[in-house]
Amino acid sequence: MDVENIEEEIRRLKEEKNAIILAHNYQRGEIQDIADLLGDSLGLSMEVAKTDADMIVFCGVSFMAETAKILSPDKKVLQPSLGAGCELANKITAQDVKVLKQKYPDARVVSYVNTTADVKAESDVCCTSANAVNVVRNIESDRVIFIPDRNLASFVRSSVDKEVIPWDGGYCYVHENITKEEVLKAREKYPDALLLVHPECNPSVIYEADEVLSTGGMVGFVKGSVGRRFLIGTEEGIIYRLQKENPGKEFYPVGDKKVCWDMKMTTLKDVYLCLLDERYEISLPEGIIDSAKRALEAMLRYT
Ligand code: 13P
Ligand code: SF4
Repeated sequence: MDVENIEEEIRRLKEEKNAIILAHNYQRGEIQDIADLLGDSLGLSMEVAKTDADMIVFCGVSFMAETAKILSPDKKVLQPSLGAGCELANKITAQDVKVLKQKYPDARVVSYVNTTADVKAESDVCCTSANAVNVVRNIESDRVIFIPDRNLASFVRSSVDKEVIPWDGGYCYVHENITKEEVLKAREKYPDALLLVHPECNPSVIYEADEVLSTGGMVGFVKGSVGRRFLIGTEEGIIYRLQKENPGKEFYPVGDKKVCWDMKMTTLKDVYLCLLDERYEISLPEGIIDSAKRALEAMLRYT
């Protein structure tokens, strides 16, 4: 089947099954084009909580599809590409969280949404890169265990007057690969460009930034900015969306393009087969769904 026919079949199956396609901002361009909703982790979670579709096709990585299932347990949630995971999410287990809770019994646990469902189930509140600072600020405790991203933990700590206990082994290889040297070179090449970076970047990169934003925050910032050139310090997929939505503006990655390979696993053919065969369905134990839902709903309240 050629691309146009696949797209047409996807649209037909979507209608027939009352399905909605959600895609993260790092997805391939052709997936972004076919999506009903495109966004960051927070935006997509909020859409999931209110959609009346019967079926959710989640083009992203597994913690995102699991989050959709937790927020909408009665819906059929499908992930087109079975193996697409997040290396950061795999850096901490529910057992690790139990140990941290024993070590710091008076602290509350804030877990980044980039975690497995069992880690969320052990947490008091979840957060995303868009609301991490607000969640930690608003939680009723001056001592917070923040897992698993150490760079996001450090960013939150610099913005909030509370004790923030990080998980040292947690980082995202895509963002950790953006270096201060690359930033300085890019600044030299494009001196008039604004530097937007994701809070998963290393503190030395964050220090150089004009704005520290979630991917959804970058989309909103660029739209409202009078700036014409932007240096983008995050996964390269978002540049497709930024270019498409802002034809008069220019976007450059910081250094080499940084790619999250799991985010790139999903193809149009996967989406088509996912709708046709209703594969691969996310299923989670009921007890985990209940506890993780409590932490995610608390996040939506604290945002
Ligand atoms: P956003 O929620 O900002 O889109 O980030 C998700 C992510 O995985 C960043 O690496
Ligand atoms: Fe996970 Fe990093 Fe990929 Fe985001 S970019 S999904 S944090 S591995």
